[in-house]
Amino acid sequence: MIDSTKSELGALWNIVTLLADGEFHSGEDLGGILGVSRAAVWKHLQKLERFGVGLSSAKGRGYRIQGGLDLLDAEKIKGNLTSKEDLDLRVFAQLDSTNSFLMREQNPSRKICLAEFQSAGRGRRGRVWVSPLAQNIYCSIGWEFDGGVAALEGLSLAIGVAVARTLQIAGVNDVTLKWPNDVLHQNKKLAGILIEVMGDPVGCCQVVVGVGLNVAMQHSQIIDIDQPWTALNSLLAKEAKPIMERNYLAAAMIDNLIAILTDYHQTGFARYHSEWMQKAAYFGDRVVLRNGQQTVTGRFSGVSSTGALCLETDLGEQTFHGGELSLRSLS
Ligand code: BTN
Repeated sequence: MIDSTKSELGALWNIVTLLADGEFHSGEDLGGILGVSRAAVWKHLQKLERFGVGLSSAKGRGYRIQGGLDLLDAEKIKGNLTSKEDLDLRVFAQLDSTNSFLMREQNPSRKICLAEFQSAGRGRRGRVWVSPLAQNIYCSIGWEFDGGVAALEGLSLAIGVAVARTLQIAGVNDVTLKWPNDVLHQNKKLAGILIEVMGDPVGCCQVVVGVGLNVAMQHSQIIDIDQPWTALNSLLAKEAKPIMERNYLAAAMIDNLIAILTDYHQTGFARYHSEWMQKAAYFGDRVVLRNGQQTVTGRFSGVSSTGALCLETDLGEQTFHGGELSLRSLS
């Protein structure tokens, strides 16, 4: 089941579900679903391009989505979960952003939201998160924490560990984590994490953890991402490994996220420190840290038990905390 009520896709969503099988469907059938004549079908179908779906047509056969689409299904995801937590999980055809959706909820705690398409997907530092339809995973989970935001310093790093564990289950072992929370494969971005907090900064707060994982997105279709990136299925294909159905992948991701969110108030980041360090990108390299106009250069010597970045600089070892910092290797 998927909630298509908030979707501008409208009747086009029914077309997407039909064409997801990768087979040809006649203009007449599609026109019937859209409530338009056969001649007007193509004009309507072209709108799908805006959502990142490529269609092909053949005279006398109709239209198809080559290769089909592996659509998300809330019931299948729930059925694949091993987590026994009481969770409210919804899958939408389209949202502005799964994080924004949960941030608008009165009480987002223990709510999970996925979307097939985000019209305003958000990355860190005000960036756009490119979110084509039915190709990747866009997932957000709300969780309540007591103890204020300071206790959450290492949470985004721990969430990186959850994503890396999920990728390992899917068949990719050589993922690296770039402080604070980029998930990379051979220096190309594979997943991103956006954590937002609301509530009392020194008491009870609600956290929304958003994860975007590139799954089936292809370079031939996407031109507007301004950093090197890669996607899970292309990595698996290169190694002739089987591709994981997105409903299993989403369930594995949610299980790994929930496992960390459930324990985090007791364990803090310390529990995940060594796992994070084993995957640390640029460890031992000379790096530059940017915060707005300011930069600091040093050797990346690791992260503290609370998740702060440690650099050996000309002034000695210095630690840096989350926020708007970005890390670039100089090697
Ligand atoms: C980054 O800049 O690396 C963070 C990207 C986070 C993207 C995810 S997709 C699901 C959730 N909804 C959003 O709008 N953003 C996060």
